[in-house]
Amino acid sequence: MTSDTKQPPASRGEDSIHWKIEPTESYGGYLDLERLLSAQRPRSDEHDELLFIIVHQTAELWMKQSLHELNQVVAGLHQDRLDTALKGLARIAGIQRLLIQSWDVLSTLTPHDYVRLRPHLGPSSGFQSWQYRALEFALGNKDAGLIEVHRADAARHAELETFLNKPSLYDEALRLLARRGIALPASVLERDWRLPYVAQPQVEEAWLVVYRDVERWWDLYDLAEKLVDLEDRFQQWRFRHMTTVERIIGRKTGTGGSSGVPYLAKALSLRFFPELWSLRTQL
Ligand code: HEM
Repeated sequence: MTSDTKQPPASRGEDSIHWKIEPTESYGGYLDLERLLSAQRPRSDEHDELLFIIVHQTAELWMKQSLHELNQVVAGLHQDRLDTALKGLARIAGIQRLLIQSWDVLSTLTPHDYVRLRPHLGPSSGFQSWQYRALEFALGNKDAGLIEVHRADAARHAELETFLNKPSLYDEALRLLARRGIALPASVLERDWRLPYVAQPQVEEAWLVVYRDVERWWDLYDLAEKLVDLEDRFQQWRFRHMTTVERIIGRKTGTGGSSGVPYLAKALSLRFFPELWSLRTQL
């Protein structure tokens, strides 16, 4: 080492760090870490229960952020602000990648580990995740019967009713297309938003206008492809959930009372944006 080489400070504490701060203004105070880190309350002494809780809790936090973004995306489309909508969709894409990867962590839980936890879970199931249901509704999978499980919680039930009754991301995308002058049937522009969306040939025709002249309709084309990306990743999440469940519980029924893997497999045939998939055959 030459004599003019600068030595690093003996301690990083010599930097101009604020040492004396009120606990409420600190990192932990701002993030409310005391509460956050005491919200993991395993019901057993099993080593693996903490992982089971944390994977679910982090998924719920990311779902919270996704709903926050999705509300802004839907509002952006409603106000013809495609820039806002695309920015939000990019952030949701990042969250989806994390959620898909989180199955790699959970799948380190073996069937042997899980059977020791199972008695402590009672009838609790992700099926009762109201944020997940809100996301499905906001994206367009309006299956009204699924909110019955929240009947006992009036506030959450009412919140889900709100999501059920308002236009979904896809409904707003179609209304934007119509405002841009692309012909769409009146029945998709004003309808009972509670009802599940039903695919129609005229809507596929409308998207084909965009896909057959992408230079002219570039921003709508960009939006459409981002929606396909979103649905593609949503399906990857559902698929990894199903395979993780199968490797952990096999063909046993779920804690929520469903048939388990067959119930999860059914969701793989759902489509939020059906014509964006079907139009590809016509190109
Ligand atoms: C050992 C891990 C897991 C097992 C064995 C499992 C099992 C199941 C099963 C069998 C169902 C069907 C409903 C039922 O009968 O309970 C279900 C639904 C569900 N699970 Fe999981 N799950 C696991 C982890 C997760 C994680 C980490 C999440 C993330 C939040 C999650 C979210 C959901 C959601 C949202 C549903 C409802 C899906 C729908 O209705 O389409 N699950 N799970």
